[in-house]
Amino acid sequence: MNILMVAAECAPFAKSGGLGDVVGALPQHLAKNGKNRVIIIMPLYSMIDRTKYNIRPEIGHLGVSLGVETLGCAVYRSEIPGNVPVYFLGHNQFFDRPGMYHDNAYNDYPDNPVRFAFLSSAALSLCRALDFHPDIIHSHDWHTALLPAFARRFYTEDHSISEAATILTIHNIAYQGRYDKNFYFSTGLGWQDFTQDKFEHYGDVNFLKGGIHFADIVNTVSKGYAAETRKAPGGYGLEYFLNQKGDDYVGILNGADYSQWNPEIDKLIPANYSAVDLSGKAVCKERLQEKMGLEKRSNVPVIGVVSRLVEQKGFQIIAECIDDLLNEEDVQFAILGSGENSLESFYSGLPERFPAKAGVVIGYDNDLAHLIEAGSDFFLMPSIYEPCGLNQIYSLKYGTLPIVRATGGLDDTIDNYKPETGEGTGFKFMDATCKSASDCIRLALDTYHNRKEHIAKLISNAMSKHFSWDDSAAEYLDMYRRAIKKNSENPAEITEAGTLNDSALTI
Ligand code: ADP
Ligand code: GLC
Repeated sequence: MNILMVAAECAPFAKSGGLGDVVGALPQHLAKNGKNRVIIIMPLYSMIDRTKYNIRPEIGHLGVSLGVETLGCAVYRSEIPGNVPVYFLGHNQFFDRPGMYHDNAYNDYPDNPVRFAFLSSAALSLCRALDFHPDIIHSHDWHTALLPAFARRFYTEDHSISEAATILTIHNIAYQGRYDKNFYFSTGLGWQDFTQDKFEHYGDVNFLKGGIHFADIVNTVSKGYAAETRKAPGGYGLEYFLNQKGDDYVGILNGADYSQWNPEIDKLIPANYSAVDLSGKAVCKERLQEKMGLEKRSNVPVIGVVSRLVEQKGFQIIAECIDDLLNEEDVQFAILGSGENSLESFYSGLPERFPAKAGVVIGYDNDLAHLIEAGSDFFLMPSIYEPCGLNQIYSLKYGTLPIVRATGGLDDTIDNYKPETGEGTGFKFMDATCKSASDCIRLALDTYHNRKEHIAKLISNAMSKHFSWDDSAAEYLDMYRRAIKKNSENPAEITEAGTLNDSALTI
């Protein structure tokens, strides 16, 4: 199969969270053994280190149409392991900015709909320029959710694109790309698709909703989250449209990239270790305590956090109980995160109130993320919702027991501790309340202090878990085949976007 993968992020080049991890890993496994040809297309953000990643010019000028305009961009190229080519779209006005989605004050760029509509349109232009005939066009999240409609509406003459099967992966349904409808019409899509079942949403355009309609198959990143999003409030208003897809909305759990996240070979931690010899973990713990300004003691449980500090992740709940926990329990916190101002300022104030017990770094730091995974005893993810979550999966491999809220992918990947038998791989709580979270944390701490044999068993269970990308990639390939079959048996409606007069709306 020829697979076109288009996304706003791809690790290691540019990543704000798990989307980047997935787009950087899945294609390698799809392309394994030369069975499939995959190309990735993403923006060339100015923060991407061109020298480090050997990103070189490929095409000097690529014309990209967006509504009535024809814009241009330069195309660059690099590769990820497995010889998967990554093409970068260079456009100063759109991508030469400090952030991917927002400025330093966390304000979304107001022209995001135009920037990402450009990405989708340019990806298809580039396919043509490269003479790449996709069997599958795979888009991710709202940023590239226009792709299926663009392929159907703007390539009526080029069947290699308009007849490709289309996939949309939803990594987070709360972000839908909902904007004033003028942004929709400026893409050149017409009135016929600005309807309630497609792009129109309470008078606005909703990129994700249109993508759900047009994609042959839609998936999300765990079975649990697929079920949650089929109902309110988990579907964030799109539950009806997901249900309309019937069996064409599925959950496929993400894998973990164990070439990056494995304590046996991790180059970013001070000592490697495995389930048979955990002595390196103690070295990592000591280094972590040193680095985070925590008291150096081997017998105090360290709870690690690496997270975007946004409402989804639930740290406003922990803010209500963390002072009590730190006052009453023998525990340390090692926290790395960045995000909303209120959460950043709350957590950055902790070390002052609890010196040597709370270490906090506000920012984005991949090396420290690895050290926290390796050096902590527990890893806290109190998410309000979690489509998949990768850090709890990494934590298992590092023998760092996850403490999670039982939602979405967290619920799917963690087996709750059974105090009667010591079975399980972590600690789960049900309610998104500080009481539920803090009771669960206290149970984990009590087990750490008083039932060491259970902790040892949990660690051994956790480290034996393996969430392989090969398995997930096989599920993606099955989904692709199904989409191709569906598309050939029941071809999607391929019609023009509508006349210019239809689409050039002024309000
Ligand atoms: P999400 O994509 O919702 O943020 P995931 O758990 O799927 O959540 O993935 C988060 C990824 O981003 C992980 O690889 C994690 O290590 C990384 N990450 C998140 N915040 C930071 C940070 N402040 N510094 C370094 N890495 C981070
Ligand atoms: C999103 C979700 C996260 C998921 C990641 C990769 O950012 O919030 O749960 O793991 O995408 O699919």
